[in-house]
Amino acid sequence: MDEISLITTEDGSHTLFHSTFNTSYHSRFGAVTESLHVYIQAGLFHFMSENPDILSVRILEMGFGTGLNAMLSMDVARRQKIQMEYEAVEAYPVPVDKATQFNYLRFSETDLRSYHAMHAGAWGKALNLNDYFTLTKHLSKMEDWHSDKKFDVIYYDAFGPETQPHLWEHTLMQKMFNFLKNGGLLVTFCAKGSFKRCLRDVGFEVEALKGPPGKREITRALKR
Ligand SMILES: C[S@@+](CC[C@H](N)C(=O)[O-])C[C@H]1O[C@@H](n2cnc3c(N)ncnc32)[C@H](O)[C@@H]1O
Repeated sequence: MDEISLITTEDGSHTLFHSTFNTSYHSRFGAVTESLHVYIQAGLFHFMSENPDILSVRILEMGFGTGLNAMLSMDVARRQKIQMEYEAVEAYPVPVDKATQFNYLRFSETDLRSYHAMHAGAWGKALNLNDYFTLTKHLSKMEDWHSDKKFDVIYYDAFGPETQPHLWEHTLMQKMFNFLKNGGLLVTFCAKGSFKRCLRDVGFEVEALKGPPGKREITRALKR
């Protein structure tokens, strides 16, 4: 059996199950529903509503995975005519032949050519996928990745703390805090108490927000 297998979630959108990590990439209640709720609504749209005059936004994603968050963000960039620079770090990439089986184009305005370029495009290179959206995928563990850039929004979408506890502790949260501009925010599906304490310890203001179906709460953390 493959290490990763395709499954269909309750809203009809695909996700993956990773047998080594023994977890799925998204909520089984709906992959697209979860991504839209957590990353687009609570993350990107919130940042844009707090900064209504901005013409560009820089996003960092922890865990490119299926590319779903990137694709939904690209829709926003094009719709709102906002320049988006999107950098995603991924340690265990999904094979391209698997990624092109996802049914995500049904849930997006993205065309097949851009979708394919998103997955098949080279690592470490800026890919201009349309007039508004540039994607750079970095093949690295987040622990080892360095950048001098500062970001507006971080989508923190690693596997959960029960699977990868070290990714939800002080060292990486300090790193995320340092990557953000003042006024920037981190958003994630995780609402574990010890994780939220870590965020506060490194200087974030932490908000608990209502979660998508099947999840009581999610977390947004602001760098003042
Ligand atoms: C919950 S999945 C979500 C992926 C993606 N955001 C999506 O919507 O499909 C977590 C992702 O984090 C990646 N990952 C796990 N450990 C990592 C690490 N140390 N550094 C970077 N990526 C990591 C996994 O390979 C996986 O793609």
